[in-house]
Amino acid sequence: MPSDSRGPAEPAFLRAARRQPTSYTPVWLMRQAGRYLPEYRALRARHGFLELCHNPAAAAEVTLQPVERLGVDAAILFADILLLLEPLDRGLEFGKGEGPIIHRPIRSETDVEALAPIDVDEAVPFVFETVRMVTRALGGRVPLIGFAGAPFTVASYLVEGGPSRDYLHTKRLMYESPEAWCRLMEILAGATARYLNGQIAAGADAVQLFDSWIGVLSPDDYRTYVLPHVRSLIAALAPGTPVIHFGTGTTALLRLMREAGGDVIGLDWRVDLDTGWNLVGHDVGVQGNLDPAVLLGPPALIRERVKTVLDRAGGRPGHIFNLGHGVHRDTPVDHVRAMVDLVHELSDRR
Ligand code: CP3
Repeated sequence: MPSDSRGPAEPAFLRAARRQPTSYTPVWLMRQAGRYLPEYRALRARHGFLELCHNPAAAAEVTLQPVERLGVDAAILFADILLLLEPLDRGLEFGKGEGPIIHRPIRSETDVEALAPIDVDEAVPFVFETVRMVTRALGGRVPLIGFAGAPFTVASYLVEGGPSRDYLHTKRLMYESPEAWCRLMEILAGATARYLNGQIAAGADAVQLFDSWIGVLSPDDYRTYVLPHVRSLIAALAPGTPVIHFGTGTTALLRLMREAGGDVIGLDWRVDLDTGWNLVGHDVGVQGNLDPAVLLGPPALIRERVKTVLDRAGGRPGHIFNLGHGVHRDTPVDHVRAMVDLVHELSDRR
């Protein structure tokens, strides 16, 4: 694999993110490091999740594990979208199995006014150190993707106090106190831009903005309450570093997400890849979009579905293969590895 990150020998992942031709379709996975990997579970048996995130040597090790094991074309930083919320002191905890919990959620205008400022350099120096360690260890073999949560998705945890079905506390704050909502989004967008720029300065080659739960909003609400903030966040990022803008349940929002920004738009599996690419326009790249549940199925089905995604991309420059969302915890590792190999084999253009 080419190791020079400048000029014609740039790795396939970065070339695709810039819509340049590649000799095969690059692939990486969301939740590349996670509970389906035995080596990750072994580390987790000895350390808490936040403890791992705070320890750059351990976090760097987790980041590198799937690169060796899966043969992916990019590494994704091991961290979490909620780390930036720790300095707000609202009682962030990663409970067993049920996902993150925020013990003192933000529900009112008064709560927003009382928010402590986020000093990014003070809050997450361990993330920047992890990026430096990973970049050094990778030595340009594959690029490193940094990431952050988008303001809506991060706010949804802060307001709901955890995962939610209907996001009613979040929507109530948005509708009842639009000025407080706007202030909250500005705080999060500003801190997130500084956070991503810090990752880029530390060596991240690309960044992904996760707006995982944005699909609960109508297009009108996205336009009014979210789009301006995401647009200013992306506009504040260091130029020249590709930005992947991802969400799920976004079929009706894709055009607006594209308007907000990003070099590559992430598609989930609820839209056919060619339809999604038409919606965002061929002057941006797309990432996606196999249903992660397909990896629970038999090898013949996985092969057929991988081929369908590649056929729909049609070999056009600017496609990065990924799942439509993260790898499920019960996924057999050999299915994941086989999928990565299949993408390389079926897309070989040399
Ligand atoms: O992709 C990767 O491998 C990089 C690491 C990564 C993690 N979280 C590690 C993690 C990334 C990119 C994230 C982002 C993240 N975190 C998102 C956006 C991506 C998405 O899935 O939509 C969200 C919504 C979160 C919040 C979060 N953190 C949730 C919902 C959970 C619980 C998940 C579950 O399965 O219960 C976490 C915890 C978390 N983040 C784990 C990992 C590996 C599992 C923690 C553990 O080991 O117990």
